[in-house]
Amino acid sequence: MTPRIAVLASGAGSNLQALLDAVSDGRLDAEIVGVIVNRPDAYALQRARANGIPTAFLDLRPYLDASDEPVQARRRYDADLAAIASRRRPDLVVLAGWMHLLTMEFLGCFPGRVMNLHPALPGEFPGAHAIDDAWHAHFSDGLDRTGVMVHLVPDEGVDNGPVLATRVVPIRADDDRESLEARIHAVEHDLLVRTVAEFLERA
Ligand code: GAR
Repeated sequence: MTPRIAVLASGAGSNLQALLDAVSDGRLDAEIVGVIVNRPDAYALQRARANGIPTAFLDLRPYLDASDEPVQARRRYDADLAAIASRRRPDLVVLAGWMHLLTMEFLGCFPGRVMNLHPALPGEFPGAHAIDDAWHAHFSDGLDRTGVMVHLVPDEGVDNGPVLATRVVPIRADDDRESLEARIHAVEHDLLVRTVAEFLERA
C-alpha cells in the first residue's frame, strides 16, 4: 500500500510543494491525501487544490471566542483538527510550516507519526521566528551557522522531540536576510523529502 501523508501548513507551502514535486517525479513513494490549513489565505491551500488534493481550513478564532478558557479552547480545536486529519487515514502527519502549537488532543491520535520541520538546529531558536533569531545572533554574537531539522513530535514541547535529521546552513559574510532565508528553504525542501522517504521506508 502506498503510504498516506497528511500535511498541515499555515503559510506559503513551499515545503508542501517540495513533497508534491517529489511524489510526482518518483523520489517519494507516497500519496499526499490531505492538506489542512489554519489560515484562509495560506498559499499552501492553492498548491493543494492545484494538485487535486482534499483540503480543509480550520479556524482557531471561533473556538477562542466561544470560551473564557483559551487552553480548553485550544484543546477542543485540536480534537476537531485530529478528527479532520483522521478521516484521511494518514500513515504520517507532516507539519510543514504549521504555526500552531499542538496539544495532546491532536498528538495523542497519531503517536510516533507526527513530523515537524523547523528552520534551526536542535535546541536553538524554537518558535515562529527562528530565521530572524539566527540572523540577529549573527550580528550580536557572531553566529556563523544555523540549520534545519526534522523531528518527531511526541508531546507539547516547542520545536523539540526526537531528531530525525539535521543539516547545517552556514551564514556567510555576504549574506543578507533574504539570501540566508532562501538557502535555508532550499535545504529544507531537500531534507524534508529525504527524511519523509526514509521514515516511510523504515515504517
Ligand atoms: C519553514 O521555514 C518551516 O521550517 C517553518 O516555517 C516555514 C514554512 O515555509 N516552520 C517553523 O518555523 C516551525 N516552528 P513554507 O510555508 O514555504 O513551507
